[in-house]
Amino acid sequence: MPNRRFPEGFLWGGATAANQVEGGWNEGGKGISVSDCARHHLDVDVTDYRKHNEITTRDVEEALKSDDDSLYPKRHGSQFYHHYKEDIAMFAEMGFKVYRLSIAWSRIFPNGDDREPNEEGLKFYDNVFDECKKHGIEPLVTMSHYEPPINLTLNYDGWYSREVIGFFENYVRTICTRYRDKVRYWLTFNEVDSMIRHPYTTGGLIEDRFQGKLWEEVIFQAMHHQFVASALATKICHEIIPGSKVGCMLTKLTYYPYTCKPEDVLKSQQDMRALYCYSDTQVFGEYPSYLLARFRNKGINIRKEPQDDEIMKSYPVDFVSFSYYMSSCTAASTEGLDVTAGNTVIAIKNPYLPSSDWGWQIDPIGLRISMVDLYDRYRKPLFIVENGLGARDTVNEDGTIDDQYRIDYFDAHFRTMLDAIEYDGVECMGYTSWGCIDLVSESTKQMSKRYGFIYVDCDDHGNGTYRRIPKKSFHWYKKVIESNGEFL
Ligand code: BG6
Repeated sequence: MPNRRFPEGFLWGGATAANQVEGGWNEGGKGISVSDCARHHLDVDVTDYRKHNEITTRDVEEALKSDDDSLYPKRHGSQFYHHYKEDIAMFAEMGFKVYRLSIAWSRIFPNGDDREPNEEGLKFYDNVFDECKKHGIEPLVTMSHYEPPINLTLNYDGWYSREVIGFFENYVRTICTRYRDKVRYWLTFNEVDSMIRHPYTTGGLIEDRFQGKLWEEVIFQAMHHQFVASALATKICHEIIPGSKVGCMLTKLTYYPYTCKPEDVLKSQQDMRALYCYSDTQVFGEYPSYLLARFRNKGINIRKEPQDDEIMKSYPVDFVSFSYYMSSCTAASTEGLDVTAGNTVIAIKNPYLPSSDWGWQIDPIGLRISMVDLYDRYRKPLFIVENGLGARDTVNEDGTIDDQYRIDYFDAHFRTMLDAIEYDGVECMGYTSWGCIDLVSESTKQMSKRYGFIYVDCDDHGNGTYRRIPKKSFHWYKKVIESNGEFL
């Protein structure tokens, strides 16, 4: 592909989330978040995402009493809290233009409902953003990435409670005011649709606390509150930081019909709509009719305040960001078909695609298809804020890490990304690879599921030196950024 380059000013970089990378879970006045109470299950098959995400009130109570951090990997993360200067310097060495990170809500408001913010927490992110600025890196900040303070779960039933919107508004106003001169790009809720797949980490919901209630209704009620909160966050951000850009964030699970049988095609259309309904709501500022039909047919009643519809309509997002890791097949009947795991979904295996060790099917063309679908649907700029390969890496005797498989994954995806921009006319603001530095996996909570260009010496129990080592892909990505893709 000689002389093909990405558009001028394309924002190349990497992404992390506080709950998976920071550690320092009880330092600097930080409160406890839902993720700090999420235990790993190393004995459970890695493809059994349901088991990995199951949590009860009793589990949380046990977690709160436990000081055995080796069981709760998100408590140690990759120790970014102590290594951020070194990490950002390494991002700069790769040439990052942008670094996507999240602010841990519980570092700013330890219990979520506190009146005053925690100054030490605010100062930490001041330091992080200053460090980014020193290296010419633009921060892209997720306001909420699986980090609700646990107090909101235990005393308010998480996002099911309307009151949480007010607490979130307060948090957003605080961070936008504090970082008004440091952060221009924002995302409201990471993968807002993941409320359906892991309601605990996304919405602070625990099923056993809603006895006698329709669980799906609980989830959608919490989701409604996040939609209103997201619109209010967009409003607040635009008011406090003129010129700022606020995006929604969707898990782009791309489904193909397993066969051309109309029943299978219909099923894939239904599955895609079941996903698009979230970004449709955030981009168009209203619930799509097909989601309202689903509510009606399932007897789901969402409690709304009279002003909610107007709020959602008045403050839609400026751009659409998404994660893309894989595609899956879907069919009217799965009988006799091979299934595989994916990004918190189980789907039919596509015989034409290879899979990662975690069963996620690798499909670079699916990225192009996803970009075209999203851009045609929304006509808003896209931002790919997560993509990458979770793999086991080995440190060689000479200390090097040869992750050619990761380079191959990125190489293929970057080519199709460029095809979407160049041939399909898709507007794409930038690309941040997921877990640019190794971090704790969201679904399985393993450290050994590594995504980074930078290796972190730490095992699934948190043992290790936390030394950073650039992998082979580090040097490769540097060349991609340096040449703005021409190197590919
Ligand atoms: C996305 C999440 O769904 O997938 C991240 O936003 C997560 O938080 C990423 O880490 C990869 O998933 P996993 O389970 O491999 O960490």
